[in-house]
Amino acid sequence: MRVLVTGGAGYVGSHTCLALLRGGHEVIVVDDLRNASIEALKRVQRLAGRALTFHQFDMRDGERLDKVFAEGPIDCAIHFAALKAVGESVEKPLEYYENNLLSTLTLCRSMLRFGVSRLIFSSSATVYAPLSPMPVDEDAPLGCANPYGWTKLMCEQILRDVAHANPSFSCVLLRYFNPIGADSSGEIGEDPNGVPNNLMPFITQVALEKFKQLQVYGDDYDTLDGTGVRDYIHVSDLARGHLAAMDYAMGHTGCVAINLGTGRGYSVLDIIQAFESVNGVQVPYVIGPRRPGDMAIVYANTQRARELLGWETELNIEDMCRDAWRWQKRNPAGYGDK
Ligand code: UFG
Repeated sequence: MRVLVTGGAGYVGSHTCLALLRGGHEVIVVDDLRNASIEALKRVQRLAGRALTFHQFDMRDGERLDKVFAEGPIDCAIHFAALKAVGESVEKPLEYYENNLLSTLTLCRSMLRFGVSRLIFSSSATVYAPLSPMPVDEDAPLGCANPYGWTKLMCEQILRDVAHANPSFSCVLLRYFNPIGADSSGEIGEDPNGVPNNLMPFITQVALEKFKQLQVYGDDYDTLDGTGVRDYIHVSDLARGHLAAMDYAMGHTGCVAINLGTGRGYSVLDIIQAFESVNGVQVPYVIGPRRPGDMAIVYANTQRARELLGWETELNIEDMCRDAWRWQKRNPAGYGDK
C-alpha cells in the first residue's frame, strides 16, 4: 500500500515507518522536523534497505498537503504529527489546540478531496477520565486533565463525526498506553528535547550520568510498592499495531477506538529494578512528592485489539529496558542535530 505518515520522523512515527518499509509498503512522510530529526528517517531507510519519500512542512499547510495527495493515490494515512508535552500544553494551550486540531482538520479535508478514506489516528490513554476502573476498556468514560489530552479527545470526536458523515470512511483511533524502548538495532529511539518528562528517557539519561538521580514522583499511592503503575509497551510492538490497524481499516468502515497496551502494569520501582538488572547499570533515585495530575494506576484492557486486530504484544519489560538502554548508550546525544 501507499501510506502517508504524518509526523513520521518522531519517536513512534519512525518505528512505524520502519515496520511499514519492512512490510513492503511505500511510505510518504510529512514532518516539519520541529521536534524531530531527519537523521531518524535516514536511519530508518538504512535499516529497511529501502527508500521513503519525505516532505518537510507544517501539516496545517493545506496547499502543500494537497500537492502530496495529487502526486499519486494514497491508500491509507497514519496521523502522528502533533505536539505532545503535557506540561507545555498547560502553559501554551492555544498553541496545542491550534496545532493539533488544525493539522487533523487539514488532513481530513485533503483526504476527502482526494477520495482517501482510511485513517489511523495516534491517540492516547490520556483520553480516559481520571478514576476509570482498571483495566480500562474503550467504552470507559472520557475526559482529560490537560490541554494535550483534550486535543487528542477533540480530534477523536472530529474523526468520529467525519466517519459518520462519510459512510465510506474508515478510521481507527489507537489509544497508546506508555510507549518505551527502541528498535533492537539501537539505531533509532526516543530523543526528547531538553530534560525528559517521561520515565524511561529520564532513567536512560541517569544511567548515562547526565543526571545525578531520578526523582520518583510519590511512594504513597495505593499500589503494591506505593509508586505509580503504568502499562509500558515496546515501541516496536506499538508500530506493528499500526499495520494491524491498517489491515483492519481495509475491510471495515466507520470509526473505532482501540487500546494498544500489554494489559500489565509495572510500578516505577519495578521499572528501575528491571532496567538495572537487565543492563547491569545503576539508576540512583530519590523519592519526591507526587506529580500533579498523575494517576495511581493505568493499564489497558486489550481484548478489543486482540479481537479486532488479531494483534498482541510480543516483547516484555526486559526487552523494553534493554532496547531503551542500547539506543541511549550508542547515541548519548540522541540524533545530535537538533
Ligand atoms: N515518573 C517518575 N519520575 C519521572 C518521570 C515519571 O516517577 O521523572 C513516574 C510518573 O509519576 C508515572 C510513571 O513514572 O507514575 C510514568 O510517567 P511518564 O511521564 O513516563 O508517563 P505518564 O503515564 O505520565 O504519561 C504518558 C505520556 C502521556 C500520555 C499518557 C497516557 O507521557 O503523553 O502516558 O496515559 F498521555
